[in-house]
Amino acid sequence: MPQRPKRPNRARGEKSTLWLVFLWSGFFGVLAAVWRAIIAPSGPFSIRTWFHICVDVARARLAAPSWNVRPLEQVTERAVAIVTGGNSGIGFETARGLWLAGYNVILACRSENRGQEACKQILETERHPSASAKRGTLTVLPLDLSELSSVVAFVERYHQRWKTLDLLVLNAGIMSPFRYEETAQGYEAHLGVNHLAQYLLVRLLMDMLEQRRGRVVLVSSILALLADDLSWHGPQWSRQGQWPFMAYGWSKAYNYMLSLELQRRGLDARCVHPGEVRTEVVRRLPSWVQRAYTWIGSFVLRTPAEGAATVLFACFAPLADDADERAVSTPSKSARTPSGNQSEQEVTALTVAQREALILDAGTRFLAMPLWMRAPANTQQLWMLSEHAVEPYLRTSTGS
Ligand SMILES: NC(=O)c1ccc[n+]([C@@H]2O[C@H](COP(=O)([O-])OP(=O)(O)OC[C@H]3O[C@@H](n4cnc5c(N)ncnc54)[C@H](OP(=O)(O)O)[C@@H]3O)[C@@H](O)[C@H]2O)c1
Repeated sequence: MPQRPKRPNRARGEKSTLWLVFLWSGFFGVLAAVWRAIIAPSGPFSIRTWFHICVDVARARLAAPSWNVRPLEQVTERAVAIVTGGNSGIGFETARGLWLAGYNVILACRSENRGQEACKQILETERHPSASAKRGTLTVLPLDLSELSSVVAFVERYHQRWKTLDLLVLNAGIMSPFRYEETAQGYEAHLGVNHLAQYLLVRLLMDMLEQRRGRVVLVSSILALLADDLSWHGPQWSRQGQWPFMAYGWSKAYNYMLSLELQRRGLDARCVHPGEVRTEVVRRLPSWVQRAYTWIGSFVLRTPAEGAATVLFACFAPLADDADERAVSTPSKSARTPSGNQSEQEVTALTVAQREALILDAGTRFLAMPLWMRAPANTQQLWMLSEHAVEPYLRTSTGS
């Protein structure tokens, strides 16, 4: 029988070496990815991110705040508050809470009809046991955050009627995880609506807020943790084709970073995550997902009033002076006391350190956000990029 020619040993050896290199590099690649997932403070591939999100969802209903948060001090008769997106969900309950506490509340809504409808519903709560004896006013002003000129028009209308501002609640927002959308100015919709337009609004109202030592409350989300330091080369404003779910996370991270930058610029700003709340925030999802969300949500998610409790806490909690920091550094148990007796219902003051945290659960839980999000260099960069993006609108506004 003719013998098959033998392959040279050398060629076989080279091939197996290549395989070994391939296998080892795969092994080390997986190890590196696991290690990165363990140590990453945030981002879609961080264990910490998903741990916090899972814990938050699990305790949304279980640990839902079941009390009304009220201000410690009397709200003055002329106190004015703006709530963006005050016609539905968390914004509606926040507007109602502020009005019950005696604020003159302006509901900044993109649909005036829906805003008026919300006012009617709020007025029906007039006999609410916790309603303040002094009744503020309720006003609807049109504001469409997907169009920057609408923000300028809103501020001009506001200036015509009101000379002061005590509280600005930046609540309105969209979540469109599967569909890429753009604003009138061509920005990715989450970036444009959830951050840029809100930035412009703060900038145009900043003088008024400073005059009265007013406060800004930004409604962010725990999904801000989806943003990661590796992709932070300054926000990539025109991320065409970017997965919109990530864009939502980034916009919520910008909310948080903006609140820090506002603080650094001397304004009293706070950022909250209201928990997972059953609202219309899923309206851009397929209808079967919405139905499932509503059904499952009735067991595990918070009601809008429970979600608004955290926002109202941020609106009312007094800020501790540095000197008092130690005295109030632990959120007091009394903040967990159900409403009814104002003296029992002491709202814990926020320390300077706590202001650097995302507030969860009506102020009784604070989640430290990753260092890169808190780094002044990054928050300043966000400020500069946002300033550059809205600059033409700052110039056209008479209020600036
Ligand atoms: N629900 C949650 O589980 C959850 C969790 C974390 C954070 N959040 C945040 O909480 C905030 C409030 O959301 P929600 O849950 O209460 O949802 P929602 O019921 O959908 O309320 C969103 C509000 O924003 C308004 N809005 C949307 N696009 C606007 C635009 N272009 N111009 C002006 N207003 C606009 C909506 O007005 P229309 O009614 O006219 O659309 C609505 O009033 C959002 O910032 C959201 O990201 C929610």
